[in-house]
Amino acid sequence: MSKQTDDFFKNVISHAKEYGFVFPSSEIYDGLSAVYDYGQLGSELKNNLKTYWWKAMVQLHENIVGIDAAIFMHPTTWKASGHVDGFNDPMIDNKDSKKRYRADQLIEDKIARYEADGKVEEAQQLQADLDAALNADDLSKLKALIEAHDIVCPISGTKNWTDVRQFNLMFSTQMGASAEDAETVYLRPETAQGIFVNFLNVQKSGRMKVPFGIAQIGKAFRNEVIARQFIMRMREFEQMELQFFVRPGTELDWYNQWKETRLKWHLAVGGDPAKYRFHDHVKLAHYANAAVDIEYDFPFGFKEVEGIHSRTDFDLSQHQKYSGKKIQYFDPEINQNYVPYVIETSIGLDRLFLTVLCNSFEEQDLSTADKQDSRSVLRFHPTLAPVKAAILPLTKKDGLPDKAREILNRLKIDHNVQYDEKDSIGKRYRRQDAIGTPFCITVDYQSLEDDTVTLRHRDSMEQERVAAADLEKIVADLVGWKNLLGGL
Ligand code: GAP
Repeated sequence: MSKQTDDFFKNVISHAKEYGFVFPSSEIYDGLSAVYDYGQLGSELKNNLKTYWWKAMVQLHENIVGIDAAIFMHPTTWKASGHVDGFNDPMIDNKDSKKRYRADQLIEDKIARYEADGKVEEAQQLQADLDAALNADDLSKLKALIEAHDIVCPISGTKNWTDVRQFNLMFSTQMGASAEDAETVYLRPETAQGIFVNFLNVQKSGRMKVPFGIAQIGKAFRNEVIARQFIMRMREFEQMELQFFVRPGTELDWYNQWKETRLKWHLAVGGDPAKYRFHDHVKLAHYANAAVDIEYDFPFGFKEVEGIHSRTDFDLSQHQKYSGKKIQYFDPEINQNYVPYVIETSIGLDRLFLTVLCNSFEEQDLSTADKQDSRSVLRFHPTLAPVKAAILPLTKKDGLPDKAREILNRLKIDHNVQYDEKDSIGKRYRRQDAIGTPFCITVDYQSLEDDTVTLRHRDSMEQERVAAADLEKIVADLVGWKNLLGGL
């Protein structure tokens, strides 16, 4: 990360805290590593992002329905899905600092350092060796690479490493009243399995016909060995997943279709298209016949925000095998029973939140020849903004607050709006810019005479005079969901 992008990212994080978007969890006890709380504005933004996804996936598609499955699932679920045996990261401990690292990430950091130092050949060779070791699940080779490239612990500075071991990422706990009959259950590491085990319930109760999809938003938990980059890699996070069930043989057409649909969804939020790219997986999971990530160019480089997988019939077949229940679909068009194939789209809500923060945050120099000035602004899409409009009486007297509150009471039925009468109007505009409020409505003395107000636009800072009576319609048009969903 260059100094400039490093500073930018630090500013995004401190802005998010200062204005009530994201706080470290249980901060008064010094926080909990890789766990975060969303504050008063963060939770509004997060809810709007969820609504955007839900409307785009469920409301706009006749053949997609949404569910809300429990976090706890029967433990056999995770045997069947492969998570008990295979959901591991290679980890290594430094014996001096007692710190634990992901072996592959230590090596990736070294590759980045080679690149930064212009050692292109070394970087390419180490990347190839890393890929080969990961593909072969060769833990001793990973250790050998760490030793051969003189990788030291960032804390102790020593090379006193343990062997590389596999570390299962699932959190477990005990369910049951007494120690004797307590059973080990897991906090789900992905929401997808709640969809697969409900395939028949939804298909039958909803009389769904293949192709159809089941969508879900919910918490997932992973005991990440290394958690870093703010809300990028968390131990408790939220996923928005779609499993789209299709006739075998048609899956790659649907896969390509979902790739395009999902990228369009990301771009509609208004980010710079150059900051998004597809990254095809070279090494496919054993159950997948195609996989791609949608990556975003974060301040620390291109990283995955969403994964799209063609998962074949692996999951449903595994659940069929482990449960002993037939999980099949009778396709009346071809008069055949089959286990449907699946296209999965899986996006991390917290990572999406971070893309929106990084995309929107700007520190603008507004200085003129005779005055120094600047502002911090979050240029959220108006439909996603946590606060849609602020209603500001120019002064605290002469009936202006009453008039402003009358407007607030009308608008708050449909929108999250704020009332603010403290400080100068300029300071209040800056406060609203900093939290991304797209519109400010100012009630001044003229408002008492002709029932008009000024409408200030966050991005252009331009103001127009509008009739107070028209505000419900004006705001509804400016922040309505059709502005985002209409172009999809
Ligand atoms: N069901 C498929 C699945 O879970 P994944 O690539 O492991 O696939 C999907 O996760 C998405 O979940 C990722 O693209 C990412 O956005 C998000 N995600 C995964 N691990 C995360 C973590 N530790 N913190 C935040 N988001 C995470």
